[in-house]
Amino acid sequence: MPTVYLNGTYLPAEEACVSVMDRGFLFGDGVYEVIPAYGGRLFRLDHHLQRLQDSLDGIRLDNPLSDDAWRGILDEVLERNRDRAGADNDQSVYLQVTRGSAARRDHAFPEQTTPTVFVFSNPITAPDPLIATRGISAITLDDIRWQYCNIKAITLLPNVLLRQQAADHNAAEALLVRHGRVIEGSASNVFVVREGVILTPPRSEQMLPGITRDLVLELAEQHALPYGETDIQADSLRQADEIWVTSSTREIVPVTRLDGAEVGDGRPGPAWKTVIGLYRDYKEAVRNGTQDQGL
Ligand SMILES: Cc1ncc(COP(=O)(O)O)c(C=O)c1O
Repeated sequence: MPTVYLNGTYLPAEEACVSVMDRGFLFGDGVYEVIPAYGGRLFRLDHHLQRLQDSLDGIRLDNPLSDDAWRGILDEVLERNRDRAGADNDQSVYLQVTRGSAARRDHAFPEQTTPTVFVFSNPITAPDPLIATRGISAITLDDIRWQYCNIKAITLLPNVLLRQQAADHNAAEALLVRHGRVIEGSASNVFVVREGVILTPPRSEQMLPGITRDLVLELAEQHALPYGETDIQADSLRQADEIWVTSSTREIVPVTRLDGAEVGDGRPGPAWKTVIGLYRDYKEAVRNGTQDQGL
């Protein structure tokens, strides 16, 4: 039975209860983070906590905890669920903060509420080895989301509908297009490779500033790989040599079919192989405690 954290208490998941008046439940009024931990070591925690702060600022909700308190809770949840993880103890922690519950259902913020803080973890399973040989399929779809996609809001209905539309087409991800430009995936950031240059859209309010995205750019910089942040026209996607999507749980995934047509030669490309190698080395260094994460 998983152990979760809810509002100051560690308890079995099936005993954790939230009020039906919680604004997360009624309005989707809250934000979240998903943070991997390899060998029990939280990956890029400071980046996740900064993004959490930015999301909370974006919805005008005070952070209920200090960074140290967050770290303590996340470590404790990982520790209490260690027996559910495999021998390598790889888990991802999900944390959520909502604006709490109020006596009345009213859209405007209540005068005084206590935020609801919820944390749980899941074992991370190793990436499917078929991805390295075959990649995944994606489709392009109109970005039907709101204007503050930089906020990691729990209100995910558009993303859910978009991802299901992809699944209906036997695709693993939807690449979202706004005003002719590809922005990101339904739950990932997007990269393309053109003539050896790794490209991704610049940060904006239209996309989530992905922690994996930023690490890919950092690794490209460190290893002198050509890269750039630039708008990517959706109709130029067809000519890309490689397309990747990135996220904390899926890492870096090559898209080898887009809208039913092959990307490049239809197999994971050389730039992906280089970058996933660097990413895995970084991850192993975090696991071994040899990577300075600035914590
Ligand atoms: C919409 C969206 N974009 C990008 C990402 C990737 O972000 P990260 O690399 O921080 O997991 C996610 C992750 O869930 C996401 O939901």
